Amino acid sequence: MLRRLYFILSPLGRRIVRRIYYLPFDCFNRVVRKSESLIPPKGMSYVGSGNFKLLGDKFFNHIFETTKVSENSKILDIGCGIGRIARPFAYYLTKSGKYVGFDIIDYGIRWCKKNYKKYPNFYFEHYPLKNDLYNLSANKSASEFVFPYSNNEFDLVVLISVFTHMQKQEVVNYLNQIYRVLQPGAYCYATFFLTESNDNQSLFPYNFENYSLHNLKVKNANVAYDKGFILKTSEEIGYKFYQSFDGWWKTEHKADNVDFQDILILQKPK
Ligand SMILES: C[S@@+](CC[C@H](N)C(=O)[O-])C[C@H]1O[C@@H](n2cnc3c(N)ncnc32)[C@H](O)[C@@H]1O
Repeated sequence: MLRRLYFILSPLGRRIVRRIYYLPFDCFNRVVRKSESLIPPKGMSYVGSGNFKLLGDKFFNHIFETTKVSENSKILDIGCGIGRIARPFAYYLTKSGKYVGFDIIDYGIRWCKKNYKKYPNFYFEHYPLKNDLYNLSANKSASEFVFPYSNNEFDLVVLISVFTHMQKQEVVNYLNQIYRVLQPGAYCYATFFLTESNDNQSLFPYNFENYSLHNLKVKNANVAYDKGFILKTSEEIGYKFYQSFDGWWKTEHKADNVDFQDILILQKPK
């Protein structure tokens, strides 16, 4: 019910409701407790209901364990939101490393630019692209977006809960662009909702070729992809499958899974 209400609101409406709902908590926090400077007020954090710090740290630890990221790595965080993944990297990367985050909405990017001034090797960029959950005002499509980065520029590309809000042609374009900007041997660490034929797909009742939607009116609300399709597409682009981790979205109890969403790690061969 709440979820349905959430999707009925416009992106701006959701932002206003969130700001008002958390206002007492954020005011209290501001006056009584000094919160960490890289953690946004709860009312501004539009990237999901979980604990901003714990989730960011959990993903950082898993990225650290599974990819060969080092403190001098050059990292691209696509759909960086309001810095949930940037924050643990800010405490880890040295000055020889570099972090670039981009997003289609400027709200979180503006907050990050203001709050990461102490980190000169951290860059936050806004590219307005259309998305019916996040950005209704843009005209340009992510399916034609050419990343403004050089070939082989990054040692790691991260997408947390981004492909889960993108349409098929957009995902295919991004996988191609990511391949181009990755160094040979480097990894793309991305979360998805990946389906296989015998899965319980009650979260995604509307089925199309190779993907299913959670909500027909807001198509980007949540999108699940056929796992075979994503693996085949990645292989055709040139990636090597490296590792995958099932999320707990199918079982609906947390068990030992890393996250609610599935995680797929692809490698650009050396
Ligand atoms: C659920 S939030 C996750 C944000 C961030 N990755 C995190 O984990 O905190 C999804 C983000 O993806 C961004 N997004 C959606 N479509 C995108 C696209 N085509 N390119 C870049 N970012 C996109 C949204 O604007 C939003 O900030």
